Amino acid sequence: MEMNIALLPGDGIGPEVIAQAVKVVKAVGQKFGHKITFKEGLVGACAIDATGDPYPDATHEICAGSDAVLFGAIGDPKYDNDPKAKVRPEQGLLRMRQKLGLFANVRPTFTFPSLVHKSPLKLDRVDGVDLVFFRELTGGVYFGEPRGRNEQGTKAFDTNVYSKEEIVRLARMGFEAAQKRRKLLTCVDKANVMATSRLWRETVQELAPEYPDVKVEYEFVDAVAMRLIQWPKAYDVLITENLFGDILTDEASVISGSMGLMPSASLGSKVKLFEPIHGSYPQAAGKDIANPLGTVLSASMMFDYAFGLSEEAKLISDVVNLSLAEGVVTEDIAEGGKAYKTSQVGDWLAAKILG
Ligand code: IPM
Ligand code: MG
Repeated sequence: MEMNIALLPGDGIGPEVIAQAVKVVKAVGQKFGHKITFKEGLVGACAIDATGDPYPDATHEICAGSDAVLFGAIGDPKYDNDPKAKVRPEQGLLRMRQKLGLFANVRPTFTFPSLVHKSPLKLDRVDGVDLVFFRELTGGVYFGEPRGRNEQGTKAFDTNVYSKEEIVRLARMGFEAAQKRRKLLTCVDKANVMATSRLWRETVQELAPEYPDVKVEYEFVDAVAMRLIQWPKAYDVLITENLFGDILTDEASVISGSMGLMPSASLGSKVKLFEPIHGSYPQAAGKDIANPLGTVLSASMMFDYAFGLSEEAKLISDVVNLSLAEGVVTEDIAEGGKAYKTSQVGDWLAAKILG
Protein backbone atom coordinates (compact mmCIF):
# COMPACT_ATOMS: atom_id res chain seq x y z
CA MET A 1 0.00 0.00 0.00
CA GLU A 2 1.13 3.58 -0.59
CA MET A 3 1.02 5.75 2.50
CA ASN A 4 1.64 9.46 2.79
CA ILE A 5 2.28 10.41 6.36
CA ALA A 6 2.70 13.93 7.70
CA LEU A 7 5.11 14.19 10.61
CA LEU A 8 4.59 16.99 13.10
CA PRO A 9 7.16 16.46 15.84
CA GLY A 10 6.30 19.74 17.59
CA ASP A 11 7.95 20.83 20.83
CA GLY A 12 9.75 19.42 23.84
CA ILE A 13 10.20 15.66 23.61
CA GLY A 14 8.02 15.56 20.47
CA PRO A 15 10.91 15.23 17.99
CA GLU A 16 12.57 12.44 20.00
CA VAL A 17 9.48 10.28 20.38
CA ILE A 18 8.38 10.86 16.77
CA ALA A 19 11.83 9.73 15.60
CA GLN A 20 11.25 6.35 17.30
CA ALA A 21 7.78 5.98 15.79
CA VAL A 22 9.32 6.68 12.38
CA LYS A 23 11.85 3.86 12.88
CA VAL A 24 9.01 1.51 13.76
CA VAL A 25 6.78 2.62 10.88
CA LYS A 26 9.66 2.24 8.42
CA ALA A 27 10.40 -1.24 9.73
CA VAL A 28 6.76 -2.25 9.33
CA GLY A 29 6.74 -0.77 5.82
CA GLN A 30 9.82 -2.78 4.91
CA LYS A 31 8.45 -6.01 6.37
CA PHE A 32 5.02 -5.79 4.75
CA GLY A 33 6.11 -4.10 1.51
CA HIS A 34 4.38 -0.74 1.96
CA LYS A 35 5.65 2.38 0.25
CA ILE A 36 5.72 5.03 2.95
CA THR A 37 6.50 8.69 2.33
CA PHE A 38 6.99 11.16 5.17
CA LYS A 39 6.63 14.93 4.99
CA GLU A 40 7.55 17.03 7.98
CA GLY A 41 5.85 20.21 9.18
CA LEU A 42 6.18 22.74 12.00
CA VAL A 43 3.58 23.15 14.73
CA GLY A 44 3.52 24.70 18.20
CA ALA A 45 6.19 26.85 19.84
CA CYS A 46 8.83 25.86 17.30
CA ALA A 47 6.50 27.06 14.53
CA ILE A 48 5.96 30.37 16.34
CA ASP A 49 9.72 30.80 16.64
CA ALA A 50 10.24 30.08 12.94
CA THR A 51 7.20 31.76 11.37
CA GLY A 52 5.22 33.62 14.04
CA ASP A 53 2.29 31.20 13.55
CA PRO A 54 1.76 28.04 15.65
CA TYR A 55 0.02 26.27 12.72
CA PRO A 56 1.42 27.74 9.51
CA ASP A 57 -0.47 27.32 6.23
CA ALA A 58 2.44 25.29 4.89
CA THR A 59 1.90 22.78 7.69
CA HIS A 60 -1.82 22.63 7.05
CA GLU A 61 -1.16 21.90 3.38
CA ILE A 62 1.15 19.04 4.27
CA CYS A 63 -1.45 17.58 6.66
CA ALA A 64 -4.42 18.05 4.34
CA GLY A 65 -2.51 16.36 1.52
CA SER A 66 -1.55 13.31 3.59
CA ASP A 67 -3.38 10.12 4.52
CA ALA A 68 -2.49 10.42 8.19
CA VAL A 69 -0.68 12.72 10.57
CA LEU A 70 1.72 11.57 13.27
CA PHE A 71 1.98 14.26 15.87
CA GLY A 72 4.35 14.55 18.84
CA ALA A 73 3.50 17.28 21.33
CA ILE A 74 3.27 21.01 21.66
CA GLY A 75 3.88 23.45 24.47
CA ASP A 76 6.69 25.47 25.94
CA PRO A 77 7.04 26.74 29.51
CA LYS A 78 7.84 30.24 28.27
CA TYR A 79 4.16 30.54 27.24
CA ASP A 80 2.62 28.72 30.22
CA ASN A 81 3.56 31.40 32.70
CA ASP A 82 2.67 34.27 30.45
CA PRO A 83 -1.14 34.55 30.41
CA LYS A 84 -0.81 37.72 28.33
CA ALA A 85 0.99 36.07 25.42
CA LYS A 86 -0.97 36.89 22.25
CA VAL A 87 0.16 33.86 20.29
CA ARG A 88 0.26 30.49 22.06
CA PRO A 89 1.42 27.06 20.88
CA GLU A 90 -1.93 25.54 21.95
CA GLN A 91 -3.73 27.73 19.43
CA GLY A 92 -1.88 25.80 16.75
CA LEU A 93 -3.20 22.49 18.02
CA LEU A 94 -6.76 23.76 18.29
CA ARG A 95 -6.67 25.30 14.82
CA MET A 96 -5.20 22.11 13.40
CA ARG A 97 -8.02 20.03 14.92
CA GLN A 98 -10.63 22.43 13.62
CA LYS A 99 -9.20 22.90 10.12
CA LEU A 100 -8.70 19.17 9.65
CA GLY A 101 -12.22 18.44 10.95
CA LEU A 102 -10.98 16.12 13.69
CA PHE A 103 -14.06 16.13 15.88
CA ALA A 104 -13.52 12.86 17.73
CA ASN A 105 -10.59 12.09 19.95
CA VAL A 106 -10.26 8.41 20.76
CA ARG A 107 -8.28 7.83 23.93
CA PRO A 108 -8.01 4.27 25.19
CA THR A 109 -6.80 3.15 28.59
CA PHE A 110 -5.63 -0.42 28.86
CA THR A 111 -3.12 -2.22 31.02
CA PHE A 112 0.07 -4.05 30.24
CA PRO A 113 0.46 -7.32 32.16
CA SER A 114 4.11 -6.60 32.98
CA LEU A 115 3.32 -3.10 34.25
CA VAL A 116 0.12 -3.34 36.29
CA HIS A 117 2.12 -3.07 39.51
CA LYS A 118 3.23 0.43 38.39
CA SER A 119 -0.31 1.75 38.58
CA PRO A 120 -1.08 4.15 41.41
CA LEU A 121 -4.20 2.05 42.00
CA LYS A 122 -4.45 -1.33 43.69
CA LEU A 123 -3.79 -4.31 41.50
CA ASP A 124 -7.32 -5.76 41.73
CA ARG A 125 -8.71 -2.44 40.49
CA VAL A 126 -6.53 -2.14 37.41
CA ASP A 127 -5.72 -5.64 36.20
CA GLY A 128 -7.70 -5.97 32.97
CA VAL A 129 -8.92 -2.38 32.65
CA ASP A 130 -9.92 -1.75 29.05
CA LEU A 131 -11.87 1.41 28.37
CA VAL A 132 -11.94 4.05 25.69
CA PHE A 133 -12.99 7.66 25.71
CA PHE A 134 -14.54 9.34 22.70
CA ARG A 135 -13.91 12.98 23.49
CA GLU A 136 -15.59 15.65 21.35
CA LEU A 137 -12.71 17.75 20.05
CA THR A 138 -13.82 20.72 17.97
CA GLY A 139 -16.66 22.21 19.97
CA GLY A 140 -17.69 23.24 23.46
CA VAL A 141 -15.92 25.78 25.57
CA TYR A 142 -12.69 25.38 23.59
CA PHE A 143 -14.24 27.16 20.62
CA GLY A 144 -17.44 28.83 21.84
CA GLU A 145 -17.97 32.56 21.31
CA PRO A 146 -18.10 35.05 22.89
CA ARG A 147 -15.01 34.70 24.97
CA GLY A 148 -12.78 37.30 26.51
CA ARG A 149 -12.85 40.08 29.08
CA ASN A 150 -14.98 43.08 29.89
CA GLU A 151 -13.55 46.52 29.12
CA GLN A 152 -11.97 46.96 32.51
CA GLY A 153 -10.44 43.53 32.26
CA THR A 154 -11.95 42.54 35.58
CA LYS A 155 -14.34 39.89 34.30
CA ALA A 156 -13.59 37.03 31.95
CA PHE A 157 -15.97 34.71 30.15
CA ASP A 158 -15.96 31.61 27.96
CA THR A 159 -18.96 30.11 26.23
CA ASN A 160 -19.85 26.45 26.11
CA VAL A 161 -21.88 25.71 22.97
CA TYR A 162 -22.99 22.44 21.40
CA SER A 163 -25.24 21.80 18.45
CA LYS A 164 -27.23 18.62 18.23
CA GLU A 165 -25.35 17.70 15.08
CA GLU A 166 -22.00 17.86 16.86
CA ILE A 167 -23.30 15.57 19.59
CA VAL A 168 -24.89 13.09 17.19
CA ARG A 169 -21.77 12.50 15.09
CA LEU A 170 -19.59 11.94 18.16
CA ALA A 171 -22.17 9.78 19.92
CA ARG A 172 -22.62 7.57 16.86
CA MET A 173 -18.90 6.82 16.86
CA GLY A 174 -19.21 5.85 20.52
CA PHE A 175 -22.21 3.60 19.91
CA GLU A 176 -20.47 1.89 16.99
CA ALA A 177 -17.31 1.34 19.04
CA ALA A 178 -19.38 -0.11 21.89
CA GLN A 179 -21.05 -2.53 19.47
CA LYS A 180 -17.62 -3.93 18.61
CA ARG A 181 -16.53 -4.08 22.26
CA ARG A 182 -18.39 -4.95 25.48
CA LYS A 183 -21.56 -3.09 24.44
CA LEU A 184 -21.64 -0.59 27.26
CA LEU A 185 -21.74 3.14 26.57
CA THR A 186 -21.46 5.77 29.29
CA CYS A 187 -22.63 9.28 28.49
CA VAL A 188 -20.64 11.62 30.72
CA ASP A 189 -22.26 14.99 31.34
CA LYS A 190 -23.35 17.52 33.93
CA ALA A 191 -27.03 17.48 33.01
CA ASN A 192 -28.04 18.44 36.54
CA VAL A 193 -26.49 21.88 35.98
CA MET A 194 -25.63 22.65 32.36
CA ALA A 195 -27.91 23.25 29.39
CA THR A 196 -25.32 21.86 26.96
CA SER A 197 -25.19 18.67 29.02
CA ARG A 198 -28.96 18.34 28.93
CA LEU A 199 -28.81 18.51 25.14
CA TRP A 200 -26.11 15.82 25.19
CA ARG A 201 -28.23 13.55 27.36
CA GLU A 202 -31.41 14.13 25.40
CA THR A 203 -29.62 13.51 22.09
CA VAL A 204 -28.00 10.29 23.29
CA GLN A 205 -31.37 9.11 24.63
CA GLU A 206 -32.88 9.69 21.20
CA LEU A 207 -30.14 7.72 19.45
CA ALA A 208 -30.10 4.79 21.88
CA PRO A 209 -33.04 2.85 20.31
CA GLU A 210 -31.03 2.60 17.07
CA TYR A 211 -28.43 0.58 18.96
CA PRO A 212 -30.55 -1.90 20.94
CA ASP A 213 -27.57 -4.15 21.64
CA VAL A 214 -25.75 -1.35 23.50
CA LYS A 215 -26.54 -0.67 27.14
CA VAL A 216 -26.38 3.07 27.83
CA GLU A 217 -25.55 4.59 31.19
CA TYR A 218 -25.75 8.28 32.03
CA GLU A 219 -23.38 9.57 34.66
CA PHE A 220 -22.42 12.99 35.92
CA VAL A 221 -18.85 13.99 35.25
CA ASP A 222 -17.95 14.41 38.92
CA ALA A 223 -19.16 10.90 39.68
CA VAL A 224 -17.16 9.54 36.74
CA ALA A 225 -14.04 11.30 38.03
CA MET A 226 -14.50 9.34 41.24
CA ARG A 227 -15.55 5.98 39.88
CA LEU A 228 -12.77 6.02 37.28
CA ILE A 229 -10.20 5.53 40.03
CA GLN A 230 -12.45 3.49 42.29
CA TRP A 231 -13.51 0.86 39.78
CA PRO A 232 -12.23 1.61 36.26
CA LYS A 233 -13.31 -1.83 35.09
CA ALA A 234 -16.91 -0.57 35.27
CA TYR A 235 -16.37 1.28 31.99
CA ASP A 236 -16.20 0.26 28.35
CA VAL A 237 -16.85 3.22 26.01
CA LEU A 238 -17.32 6.72 27.39
CA ILE A 239 -18.53 9.67 25.35
CA THR A 240 -18.15 13.23 26.50
CA GLU A 241 -17.73 16.86 25.58
CA ASN A 242 -14.40 18.53 24.93
CA LEU A 243 -13.46 19.91 28.36
CA PHE A 244 -14.72 16.97 30.43
CA GLY A 245 -12.87 14.66 28.05
CA ASP A 246 -9.67 16.65 28.37
CA ILE A 247 -9.71 16.29 32.14
CA LEU A 248 -10.89 12.71 32.45
CA THR A 249 -8.53 11.31 29.84
CA ASP A 250 -5.52 12.62 31.75
CA GLU A 251 -6.92 10.95 34.85
CA ALA A 252 -7.53 7.71 32.97
CA SER A 253 -4.11 7.71 31.35
CA VAL A 254 -2.20 7.13 34.58
CA ILE A 255 -4.25 4.06 35.50
CA SER A 256 -1.99 1.95 33.30
CA GLY A 257 1.13 3.02 35.19
CA SER A 258 2.70 5.72 33.04
CA MET A 259 1.21 8.52 31.01
CA GLY A 260 4.01 7.93 28.52
CA LEU A 261 2.29 4.78 27.34
CA MET A 262 -1.10 5.89 26.09
CA PRO A 263 -1.80 6.60 22.43
CA SER A 264 -4.67 8.46 20.84
CA ALA A 265 -6.38 8.96 17.52
CA SER A 266 -8.29 11.99 16.28
CA LEU A 267 -10.90 11.17 13.69
CA GLY A 268 -13.63 12.86 11.74
CA SER A 269 -12.40 13.46 8.23
CA LYS A 270 -10.31 11.87 5.52
CA VAL A 271 -7.07 12.77 7.27
CA LYS A 272 -6.71 11.17 10.68
CA LEU A 273 -4.27 12.24 13.33
CA PHE A 274 -2.36 10.14 15.84
CA GLU A 275 -0.55 11.36 18.92
CA PRO A 276 0.60 10.23 22.34
CA ILE A 277 -1.46 11.77 25.08
CA HIS A 278 1.49 12.93 27.17
CA GLY A 279 2.50 16.52 26.65
CA SER A 280 5.77 18.09 25.57
CA TYR A 281 7.55 17.27 28.88
CA PRO A 282 10.04 20.15 28.44
CA GLN A 283 12.21 19.06 31.38
CA ALA A 284 13.21 15.96 29.43
CA ALA A 285 13.62 17.54 26.01
CA GLY A 286 16.86 16.66 24.26
CA LYS A 287 17.95 14.19 26.95
CA ASP A 288 16.97 11.01 25.11
CA ILE A 289 15.06 9.75 28.17
CA ALA A 290 11.40 10.19 27.23
CA ASN A 291 9.21 7.14 26.87
CA PRO A 292 8.46 6.67 23.15
CA LEU A 293 5.84 3.95 23.60
CA GLY A 294 2.78 6.24 23.59
CA THR A 295 3.90 7.52 20.20
CA VAL A 296 4.81 4.08 18.90
CA LEU A 297 1.38 2.81 19.96
CA SER A 298 -0.16 5.83 18.24
CA ALA A 299 1.56 4.62 15.09
CA SER A 300 -0.03 1.23 15.72
CA MET A 301 -3.45 2.92 15.92
CA MET A 302 -2.59 4.68 12.65
CA PHE A 303 -2.15 1.39 10.80
CA ASP A 304 -5.47 0.24 12.18
CA TYR A 305 -7.66 3.34 11.93
CA ALA A 306 -6.13 5.15 8.95
CA PHE A 307 -5.17 2.22 6.74
CA GLY A 308 -7.24 -0.71 8.00
CA LEU A 309 -4.06 -2.77 8.43
CA SER A 310 -4.73 -4.64 11.66
CA GLU A 311 -1.92 -7.17 11.26
CA GLU A 312 0.66 -4.39 11.09
CA ALA A 313 -1.01 -2.64 14.05
CA LYS A 314 -0.91 -5.81 16.10
CA LEU A 315 2.73 -6.49 15.32
CA ILE A 316 3.61 -3.07 16.73
CA SER A 317 1.64 -3.58 19.93
CA ASP A 318 3.13 -7.08 20.26
CA VAL A 319 6.72 -5.80 20.09
CA VAL A 320 5.84 -3.04 22.54
CA ASN A 321 4.58 -5.67 24.98
CA LEU A 322 7.73 -7.68 24.38
CA SER A 323 9.94 -4.67 25.15
CA LEU A 324 8.06 -4.19 28.43
CA ALA A 325 8.30 -7.86 29.34
CA GLU A 326 12.03 -7.94 28.55
CA GLY A 327 12.72 -4.70 30.42
CA VAL A 328 13.83 -2.68 27.37
CA VAL A 329 12.28 0.43 28.85
CA THR A 330 13.02 4.08 29.55
CA GLU A 331 13.77 5.39 33.03
CA ASP A 332 10.16 6.29 33.88
CA ILE A 333 9.35 2.60 34.14
CA ALA A 334 12.78 1.03 34.67
CA GLU A 335 12.38 0.88 38.48
CA GLY A 336 16.02 0.56 39.42
CA GLY A 337 16.61 -1.85 36.53
CA LYS A 338 18.58 -0.82 33.48
CA ALA A 339 17.10 2.29 31.89
CA TYR A 340 17.35 2.42 28.12
CA LYS A 341 17.53 5.63 26.13
CA THR A 342 14.58 6.74 24.02
CA SER A 343 16.57 6.06 20.86
CA GLN A 344 17.65 2.61 22.06
CA VAL A 345 14.05 1.57 22.68
CA GLY A 346 13.17 2.70 19.15
CA ASP A 347 16.10 0.78 17.65
CA TRP A 348 15.15 -2.33 19.62
CA LEU A 349 11.52 -2.21 18.51
CA ALA A 350 12.45 -1.70 14.86
CA ALA A 351 14.95 -4.57 14.99
CA LYS A 352 12.36 -6.89 16.55
CA ILE A 353 9.86 -6.05 13.82
CA LEU A 354 12.37 -6.93 11.15
CA GLY A 355 13.86 -9.87 13.07
C1 IPM B 1 -4.89 17.56 25.05
C2 IPM B 1 -4.19 18.81 25.53
C3 IPM B 1 -4.74 19.99 24.75
C4 IPM B 1 -6.22 20.10 25.04
C5 IPM B 1 -4.03 21.34 25.05
C6 IPM B 1 -2.54 21.24 24.82
C7 IPM B 1 -4.63 22.46 24.26
O1 IPM B 1 -4.33 18.96 26.89
O2 IPM B 1 -4.74 17.21 23.87
O3 IPM B 1 -5.58 16.94 25.85
O4 IPM B 1 -6.62 20.69 26.05
O5 IPM B 1 -7.00 19.58 24.23
MG1 MG C 1 -5.33 17.37 27.83
